[in-house]
Amino acid sequence: MANQDYFRGKTLLTLLILFLFAAQSCSDKDESEDVQQDDTNALAALNLPEDPFNYSNPDYPTHFTVNQFPGGGGGQTAVIQNDNTPQDNPVTDDGATLGRVLFYDVKLSANSTIACASCHKQDLGFGDSEILSTGFEGGKTGRHSMGLSNARFYASGKFFWDERAATLEDQVLMPFQDEVEMGLTLEELVNIVSEQEYYPVLFERAFGGRSINSDRISKALAQFVRSMVSYQAKYDDARSTENDPIRPFAGFSPAENRGKTLFMTNAKGVVPCAACHQSEAFVGMAAPPPGMGNTTTATNNGLDAETSADEGVFLTTANGRDRGKFKTPSLRNIAVRAPFMHDGRFSNLEEVIDHYSTGIQDHAQLDPRLRTPGGQPARYDFTEQEKADLIAFLETLTDQSFLTDEKFSNPFK
Ligand code: HEC
Ligand code: HEC
Repeated sequence: MANQDYFRGKTLLTLLILFLFAAQSCSDKDESEDVQQDDTNALAALNLPEDPFNYSNPDYPTHFTVNQFPGGGGGQTAVIQNDNTPQDNPVTDDGATLGRVLFYDVKLSANSTIACASCHKQDLGFGDSEILSTGFEGGKTGRHSMGLSNARFYASGKFFWDERAATLEDQVLMPFQDEVEMGLTLEELVNIVSEQEYYPVLFERAFGGRSINSDRISKALAQFVRSMVSYQAKYDDARSTENDPIRPFAGFSPAENRGKTLFMTNAKGVVPCAACHQSEAFVGMAAPPPGMGNTTTATNNGLDAETSADEGVFLTTANGRDRGKFKTPSLRNIAVRAPFMHDGRFSNLEEVIDHYSTGIQDHAQLDPRLRTPGGQPARYDFTEQEKADLIAFLETLTDQSFLTDEKFSNPFK
């Protein structure tokens, strides 16, 4: 009898434990389903794909990965040799997805009106058609906005016209704190991000945890900007059947090929455009230009004889040699990025080419390669035909798939 009671008691206890266990795991399941449902609801405001877009593994063409300039091309490099991605912040699909949302989120400005994308528009190569861009209270930026195509491939890794951001991770937090642009403190930024219901799940996917801080915001934005790689322009299509960037491309018109020769070679007896707009990302130089003890790859292309109104890289380095030097921007998608130069002074490519043709000014820091052996500012002296050819070539750098790719577009609509 006592034994039976004992067994019955034990059976009941076992059943009870099993029941509790089942109930527990059942409620665990409910909970995780709840969390998933909450996450789906939180993301409902955004137009994001179920599986993230591929940002981490772009399908680079061979001419991005192999240096095919004849004889190494005198300082020319394969595009990916200049990758400025730091080891602790590789591009991931979820990281760049979070970066994309941050990039387009107008809530991240003092009066919820301005996002990064307000001044960096996808259809304009992530530049702006205004000479100076407009900030959150209608104020104007000090310089012309910059295109963001292939920002990943500036070997120097420095950003802004005056190179004041040492890394892209540093750069992406600066517009938020700029008095004209977005008008926040980092603390305010983190608070606003934390208040939006869609961010915790995006941070979790990107960083494996829901905590939100400015370091993670910086990393995600830098990932998104580095994912903006343009490699599907007419240039790239035509280049894919030719394993030398200098030889004429079968896929180019005669004018485009003539313009390419003018750009790539010293056909005019002056340093080629490609000596400064380097590699096939057409970005600033991988190493400082020779001569004059230069320490920056930014340079002076002779826009003015005198530059006291904006001293460029000197404002960053306080090195007298850097007076009037500016970062050399990528020419990818240049034809959709008017106006041009750090102050947006040229409203079309014709004016740019006219500048190089006959307008180079005798600035004290003019890049020495833009001087004649006698020391005078160089003159490319392009004919009208050559000017048209150069522009035809620059237009081959327009990459429609980049300018319209949904993965770089506004997820708030
Ligand atoms: C109000 C307009 C405006 C907003 C908003 C803005 N930018 Fe910019 N951006 C500019 C201007 C103007 C420059 C050039 C400023 C300079 O060099 O002094 C620039 C430069 C840059 C550069 C440097 C590119 C290079 O090649 O050196 C990057 C990268 C960039 N912005 C990313 C961002 C990101 C990310 C955001 C949002 C966090 C943002 N911008 C918000 C106007 C803006
Ligand atoms: C000695 C170096 C050098 C050479 C050679 C050179 N550039 Fe530039 N280029 C620059 C620099 C530096 C800038 C930015 C200057 C500024 O805004 O102050 C620039 C700017 C430009 C821009 C405007 C970019 C923008 O985003 O606004 C275009 C277009 C351009 N160059 C085309 C050419 C062409 C075409 C040639 C050949 C005829 C050429 N460059 C030769 C250094 C050079």
